[in-house]
Amino acid sequence: MAHTILITGATGTVGSELVLDLANRGVTVRAGVHSIIKGDRLRHIYPDTQLVEIDYARPETLHVALTGVERLFLVTPFVENQVAYAKQVIDVAKQAGVQQIVRLSVAGADATPGIQLGRWHREVEEYLAQSGVPYTLVRPTSFMQNFINHNSDSICQEDKFYLPLGDGAISYIDVRDIASVAANILTTDVAQHQGKAYTLTGPVALTGAAVAAAISQAANRPIAYVDVPEAAARQAMSQAPQWMTDAMLELHALGKAGHAAAVTSTVEELTGRPAYTFEQFAKDYHQHFQPGS
Ligand SMILES: NC(=O)c1ccc[n+]([C@@H]2O[C@H](COP(=O)([O-])OP(=O)(O)OC[C@H]3O[C@@H](n4cnc5c(N)ncnc54)[C@H](OP(=O)(O)O)[C@@H]3O)[C@@H](O)[C@H]2O)c1
Repeated sequence: MAHTILITGATGTVGSELVLDLANRGVTVRAGVHSIIKGDRLRHIYPDTQLVEIDYARPETLHVALTGVERLFLVTPFVENQVAYAKQVIDVAKQAGVQQIVRLSVAGADATPGIQLGRWHREVEEYLAQSGVPYTLVRPTSFMQNFINHNSDSICQEDKFYLPLGDGAISYIDVRDIASVAANILTTDVAQHQGKAYTLTGPVALTGAAVAAAISQAANRPIAYVDVPEAAARQAMSQAPQWMTDAMLELHALGKAGHAAAVTSTVEELTGRPAYTFEQFAKDYHQHFQPGS
């Protein structure tokens, strides 16, 4: 059981890419999956992957999942009790003798006063720092893959995507870079990254128009960025809970104001290769932007 690496959120956007990255390095992991059925796909792709059920709403699953774990990649979903969930995992990990926790946080979590999303992450970061368990914080900007997860329906059906970002530029990061950085941290000496916080960004900041140009090029047809007023964006999210709508609109307002444009060279410093460009991302995932996909 020694040296077991547990990846939480292993079927999610970052977790699945991290399982893949580690598998490519010959490192097998314990994949923490919310649903064994959904997680079974992972075992098909990586037969050596050990699956373990984790439901943050059922703490007893954590005790089983963390037994024998040396290193932990901690992801919490975007849900109302994300902070309580993360703290509970940290407590159980400490009891279980985990030697390293790599926490997926967010860029700007240390800003004051910052935004609500960042403050939730900061609360967990501080709790982790006080836990006594060696830790590393990974703080990415907005994911390029959000355009697949959240905007591909309208891109495929209407050749448009709608966001309330004005001309604000954002230094989107490819999730593959987050996975590479996390994989490096999880497979090198714990002391090397102990207590560090890494802000991860893409190589440049892009406006909505520049994103549209990159997706148009990759999809081989014109895709338009439609800048929507905040009220219209709120209306479009009317099915979502209020706390989620408020947090997302606050995040978008930050991007619109140009406060999410900073670029770091941390991906290259930690992986030894340049961060993916948005153009490369759009090319590699162009099938997600095709009509009927
Ligand atoms: N999106 C961005 O641009 C961005 C940028 C910076 C930071 N972040 C941070 O990234 C984190 C989210 O990571 P992600 O995008 O990789 O997540 P994600 O794709 O939304 O996946 C969430 C994962 O958590 C699992 N999960 C859901 N409910 C669970 C529960 N009750 N117990 C255990 N597992 C559960 C999901 O499994 P099922 O699918 O089976 O339910 C899934 O594997 C958040 O903390 C967010 O703030 C996001």
